Amino acid sequence: MDNKIISEGKSRQVQSTDNSEEVIVLHKDNETAYNGIKRATVPGKGVTINAISAILYQLLEKNGVPTHFIKVVDEHSHLCRRVTPIRLEFIVRNFAAGDMTARLDIPTGTPLKKPIFECCYKNDKLDDPFINTHYAIALGISTAEELAEIEHKLGTINTILTAYFLSIGIRLVDFKVEFGRASDGTLLMCDELSPDSCRLWDVETSESLDRDRFRYDLGNVGESYEEVLRRMKNKK
Ligand code: C5P
Repeated sequence: MDNKIISEGKSRQVQSTDNSEEVIVLHKDNETAYNGIKRATVPGKGVTINAISAILYQLLEKNGVPTHFIKVVDEHSHLCRRVTPIRLEFIVRNFAAGDMTARLDIPTGTPLKKPIFECCYKNDKLDDPFINTHYAIALGISTAEELAEIEHKLGTINTILTAYFLSIGIRLVDFKVEFGRASDGTLLMCDELSPDSCRLWDVETSESLDRDRFRYDLGNVGESYEEVLRRMKNKK
């Protein structure tokens, strides 16, 4: 059977497979910011993201966090479990940056006394607005039980990723993850995990190694992503 495109996002394409429980996720070379208003092609980015994401998914799985990742198919794609996405984006912040600094007039890089968990309503037309869990429950997007399970997972994911990145000289400033339910009801982390969805700063220089290089025209976007991958591959 030919794979059919199920959905096409700004930087990924999801395709059907012969197995209705599995999909192919293909990483494209597109880079976007500000909800797709700023766009460019970064040659080789899809391959780098595919490799980074695979290593991080496997790290989380090894540490007991279920994700949609099954295996790498080729240099652009993963085979993943099919999920029904929960229409929320979850952001975890360890240091103030990005949207938070603009909203609250706090200096970039301010350490937070505890990690902040945020949730946004996934809606491109509305620019994924910031909501709280009361909205998510009241609007029937999620339930109190599901959100409690997710918050527990966010804490675990943050602990695992913070330690991992520190071991390769990178500070995990913040990141965004999404979740979905597999057909058997299992809650799985899905979407992607990469320098496109995390703020990653070099511990020594505080230089950004993530999508902020594209957002703020800092240059060397692809090279910075490759540097993250290089450190991951060299990790003992
Ligand atoms: O823009 P903001 O400060 O809310 O972003 C927090 C983190 O979530 C950043 O690492 C950013 O790259 C990520 N994010 C994302 N996709 C979005 C919104 C934020 O990957 N739609």
